[in-house]
Amino acid sequence: MKRLIPTLKQDNVSVELIMLIRTILAASKEISFRVSQGALAGILGSTLDENIQGEVQKKLDVVANQLLKDMLLDDDSVRTIASEEEDNVVAGHANAPFIVAFDPLDGSSNIDINGQIGTIFTIYPARNDVSDDSDLQFSQPGKNQLCSGYILYGAATMLVMTTGGPTRCYTLDQTHGGYLLTTDELQIDQDTQEFAINMANTYSWYSPTQLYIQQLLLGLAGDREKVFNMRWNAAMVGDVHRVLTRGGIFLYPEDKRTGMQAGKLRLLYEANPMALLVENAGGKAYSGKMRILDIQPEYIHQRVPVVLGAKNEVAAYCSYLVDV
Ligand code: AHG
Ligand code: MN
Ligand code: MN
Repeated sequence: MKRLIPTLKQDNVSVELIMLIRTILAASKEISFRVSQGALAGILGSTLDENIQGEVQKKLDVVANQLLKDMLLDDDSVRTIASEEEDNVVAGHANAPFIVAFDPLDGSSNIDINGQIGTIFTIYPARNDVSDDSDLQFSQPGKNQLCSGYILYGAATMLVMTTGGPTRCYTLDQTHGGYLLTTDELQIDQDTQEFAINMANTYSWYSPTQLYIQQLLLGLAGDREKVFNMRWNAAMVGDVHRVLTRGGIFLYPEDKRTGMQAGKLRLLYEANPMALLVENAGGKAYSGKMRILDIQPEYIHQRVPVVLGAKNEVAAYCSYLVDV
C-alpha cells in the first residue's frame, strides 16, 4: 500500500507544505491514541469552561486544541493559527508561508458515548498585507485553501485530505504509525437516496427546508419520486465521511433558534475545509444559494448554513430557496 509522503510528492505538493501536513498528522496520532484509551486516558467529561461561542468545553476539546496549538506554533512554516477553542488568532513565526485553522475536536457530544469524532483542518497562504496577529489573515475565501482535511477517530483512524487535486483517503496503520493510502480518489455520485439532517429541529426551520424535507419523507409520492433513508451521526466529520464514501446529502441549515440564525457550523474550520473535500470529490457545497468556497469571511468564528454532497440533490434543495 502506498504511503502518504510519496503520494503527496506525486501530487507535486511542495516540501514545505508536506512538512506542515506531517506536523498536523503527528498531533492527530497523539489525539487518536488518547481517544482509543477512552476513560483510561482521563479524557472523558466536561471542563468548567466555555469557549467564545458559549459551548461547554469537553476535556478532549481542550487537550486536542493544546496538542495542535503547541505543535503548530513550534513549526517554522506557520505564521498564524486559528482554532474553534481559541477566542483570537495566535501568531507564530514571522515571514512563515502558511496559516492554519482547525476544529481540534468535532462532534464533542459523541466523546462520552464512544461515537465518531474527528479533527478538521485547513491551510491557507499567509497574507503579507496584514499583521501576523490579525484576524484578517483568515479573511480569505475558501477557494484559496492550499490543503484541507479531517482525521476521523472512528473504528479505524482515517485521514481524508485534498491538496487541490483529488480527495484521497488514508488509514492509520496503528502497528507502524503511518497513514497508508486506502482510497485513491473519492467520488460522490450525483444522485442519492440518503439524507442527513437533525430532524429534531424541524419546528424551527424556515419553510424552504421544511418543504424540501417533507417531500423526501413522502417517498415515491414526493416530488423527488424516490424513497429516502436517513442518517445522523451528530458529528460533521462522521456525516461528511459517509457522504464521501457512499454518497448522500448533508444539511445544517439556518433556523429560528437563538444563535442559529446563520446555522450552527463555522465557515473557517468546518464548512470551508469540508466544501473543498466535497467539491474535489465531484460533489457540491452550498450556503443558501452561494457556493461555500466563494464566501468572503467576516470574522473567524462566523457561522454559515451548509448543504453539501450529491450534486443533483444539493441543486434540488437550492431550488426550494428561490422564494426566500
Ligand atoms: P463541535 O463539536 O466542534 O462543536 O461541532 C459539532 C457540530 C457538528 O459536528 C455537527 O454536525 C453538529 O454540531 C451537530 O449538531 P446537533 O447537536 O444540532 O445535531
Ligand atoms: Mn465542529
Ligand atoms: Mn470542535
